[in-house]
Amino acid sequence: MAREQWASKLGFMLAAMGSAVGLGNIWRFSYVAGESGGGAFLVLYLFFVVVIGVPLLLTEVSIGRKAQSDVVGSFAKLAPGTPWFMTGFFGVLSAFLILSFYGVVAGWAIYYFGKYITGEFFTAPEAGYEATFGGFISHPWQPMFWHALFMILTIFIVYSGVKKGIEFANKIFMPTLAVLLVALAVFSMSLDGASAGLEFLFKPDWSALSNPGVIVAALGQAFFSLSLGMGAMLTYGSYLSKQNKLPSATLGIGLMDTFFAIISGLVIFPAVFAFDIDPGSGPPLVFITLPSIFEQMPFGEVVGIVFFFSLILAALSSSVSILEVPVAYFMRIWNWSRRKASIVMGLIMFLLGITVSLGMGIWSGVTPIGDNNILDSFDYIASNILLPLGGLSMALFVGWYFNKSTALEATDMTGNPVAGIWYSIIKYLAPILIILIFLNAIGIISF
Ligand code: PHE
Repeated sequence: MAREQWASKLGFMLAAMGSAVGLGNIWRFSYVAGESGGGAFLVLYLFFVVVIGVPLLLTEVSIGRKAQSDVVGSFAKLAPGTPWFMTGFFGVLSAFLILSFYGVVAGWAIYYFGKYITGEFFTAPEAGYEATFGGFISHPWQPMFWHALFMILTIFIVYSGVKKGIEFANKIFMPTLAVLLVALAVFSMSLDGASAGLEFLFKPDWSALSNPGVIVAALGQAFFSLSLGMGAMLTYGSYLSKQNKLPSATLGIGLMDTFFAIISGLVIFPAVFAFDIDPGSGPPLVFITLPSIFEQMPFGEVVGIVFFFSLILAALSSSVSILEVPVAYFMRIWNWSRRKASIVMGLIMFLLGITVSLGMGIWSGVTPIGDNNILDSFDYIASNILLPLGGLSMALFVGWYFNKSTALEATDMTGNPVAGIWYSIIKYLAPILIILIFLNAIGIISF
């Protein structure tokens, strides 16, 4: 059977933007920035997006487009008989780890959506939003119901096929989310005490960077948010034909993703300070901040409903790109139908996600890495270690395994005025930076 293709370059762009924009921009960006000192983290994150993220995005998509195969198959095809295909295995592993917690958090968003539909969260519940949320996520089975629902939706979209399912959902809901976030940001900044939040986000306290963990966190956030290093963008690139030019598309994706992150920061931090919430609250941060905003805002009830609905769709357009990575791989190696591959892989991710969900409550004492619970540990391994390693490998592949003219041709950079800069980044700067950040994190060198 012929491999599927996007209907148009626009279809690809919307799907890739859909992959990039998701819980990573709103939920993950806010809490990681909040835990990592705010301003200095933001500057470093932006630096990584520009000097590593966008150039690498072009690189990753180009590998898939050139090979027309999945994340393992692409390397095996372009570099037969070499160990490069191992990059793909890391990608498939990251996909399992990421979707297992992504699905749980998206389930929380569905629960909130329900609370706004029924009106229960229009005013704060007796125990307050924070305690009510804490009670919900630590419940042994309630969150699993919403998590299961989210995974079923993800599986359904992936198995209904690349074009119909994914392209369609993205065309409608990304603009809705953008408009809502801008309106929320304007309102949030008008709250009493909002300026402390703006200061937190825009006045860098550089001493935060003396903690190597903050540097790794900024790198991990850049990778996570741009869906980089795992093969999601590679797999999406593999459904593109050679006629579609890549550089402008990848730049657009990078800009859009960054826009959503900064706007989310402008929604969350002014409110965090106005409502006296701890910016270091971790993964619950947006879930305890947003309801207080909606409660105060004119038409907040309606905004709450539309916001959570759009957030769920943004999460879905990302989760389908994650599930697509193993699905494309197992469809090829085991000759499975799309339907079978999506159901089986989605089910495994759901089961893995159950451990994440229990880790928020009865298994909160299970701390695989340091004192991190299961969610934080999975996230740490995938986002801060596997994704940057995957990106490092892709940069080395295009920078060193290909010769220069092949690299430029694969990325449509031949004759481009910034081709030289892009090539030096991929060949030298990005790999060196990633390696230095890792060495710094494990204490071998110190910045
Ligand atoms: N970028 C997505 C988000 O921000 C998450 C994601 C990570 C998707 C890695 C694919 C690969 O929500």
